[in-house]
Parts: sequence; structure tokens; C-alpha cells
Amino acid sequence: MKIYRTKDYDEMSKKAAHIIAAQIVLKPDCVLGLATGSTPVGTYKNLVEWYKSGDLDFSTLSSCNLDEYRGLSPENDQSYRYFMNTNLFDHVNIRKDHTFVPDGQEADSNKACQMYEQIIQDLGGIDLQLLGLGHNGHIGFNEPAEEFPKTTHCVDLTESTIQANKRFFEKESDVPRQAYTMGIGTIMSAKKILVVVSGEDKAEILNKIINGPVTPQVPASILQLHPDVTIVADNAALSQV
Ligand code: GLP
Repeated sequence: MKIYRTKDYDEMSKKAAHIIAAQIVLKPDCVLGLATGSTPVGTYKNLVEWYKSGDLDFSTLSSCNLDEYRGLSPENDQSYRYFMNTNLFDHVNIRKDHTFVPDGQEADSNKACQMYEQIIQDLGGIDLQLLGLGHNGHIGFNEPAEEFPKTTHCVDLTESTIQANKRFFEKESDVPRQAYTMGIGTIMSAKKILVVVSGEDKAEILNKIINGPVTPQVPASILQLHPDVTIVADNAALSQV
């Protein structure tokens, strides 16, 4: 694992955006795996700025997002499709039909998940997967479990994730209880992985991921076994490492 320590969130965002920009420049038709949550927002802001200043071209790449709430439509302002449109896709020259997010409106979960795996396979796999980190070590929506889930699947969100994500919803009962997420196997198949982590509240879990045992109880700990992982984290997040 390569670890970059930054002084704060802004520097973390800039560093992560540089790594993504380098990927786009080196392989203009690359497949980016993208993430939601508050941590990557600054990374997307930098990418949008560089696009606007003429330094980046998104027109030949594709993207696949990690996850989507089950039951939310793309127009719902809490859906991850909506998040991606407003934070990135609407502001750059990416072809919308080359951006993929699991279909939260497909009620048949097997169908939704199989279709998503097929999309990733048809694209030829993911070149660079961006990840945020949940407080319990989840990546995408792969929650602590007895074993590592391999492919895209439907999950019941844990109480801690519901609590962490309720800040984005009007009331707690509006938070969906299920989501479709890439599996750990899907994530581990990406050629490169980039993890962004910020803040004191992530310090304990980040230390476990870097130095603790590899266990499905801490899903992101499996990243220790991936050959090309870069963690970009600020001082606060790295304070226990
Ligand atoms: C959600 C997402 C994850 C994300 C996590 C952390 O649960 N499914 O992909 O990494 O939140 O979010 P934040 O960056 O807001 O702490």
C-alpha cells in the first residue's frame, strides 16, 4: 500500500484528483470506478475545475459507480446517480450513456446485480477504482460480514451506516434500508485502487485497515492484499497509524 499523508482535506482532494487526472491522461478511454459520500466531493470539484480550464478531457472514458440505494430513482436527490450528476457528470464532457450506476429502481435484485456485473465485464474491467471509507470499514456498501462478498449484490445496511447517512435525508425513516453494491471481488478486480480518507473520526478504522488483520469484519482490510492500492489521507485520519 502506498500512503500519501496530506495536511488537510483540501490537500487530500487535490492529490486524489491528480492521481485520477493522470489516469485519464495516460489512458483516455479508461474505465473509472467512482464513489459517493462526502469524502470524494472535493476530489470531484478539482476535476471539474481542471476540466473547465481545458486541462482534462472526459469524452472518451467510462465510469461505473460502486453502489446505489435500492428503491431510489435517479431523480431522487438522495440517489447516488443524482449525486454523481450534480457533483461531476453535469459539469464535464463525459458521455452520460457511458456512466453506470446500479439500477436502484430494478426491484429484482438478482437481475439488477447480474446486469451490473455484466456491464463492468463488457467495459473490460475497471482501471482505477476510487473508494471512500465507512466508519465500520465498509467500502461501497460491503458491510462487516462473515465472509467477503464476491460480486455485486443486495445488502441490508447496518444500523451504524443508516445512522451515518441519515444526515443527508430529511428524517431517519427516509434512509433506504437496502442497497446494491459492487462486491469485494468486483472492487479487488480493479487494476488500481485509490482510497480517500479524511478526519479524526476515521483514524481508528484507517489504522485497522492498514495495520490490522485481514478480516471480513473490517471489509476494507482486504485492500492489504491488492497489488496497487494508494491511500490519500489527511493528518487527522492518519493520526493513529
Ligand atoms: C457511504 C457510501 C460509501 C462511502 C461511505 C463513507 O456509505 N456507500 O461508498 O465511502 O458512505 O462516506 P463519507 O465519505 O461521507 O464518510
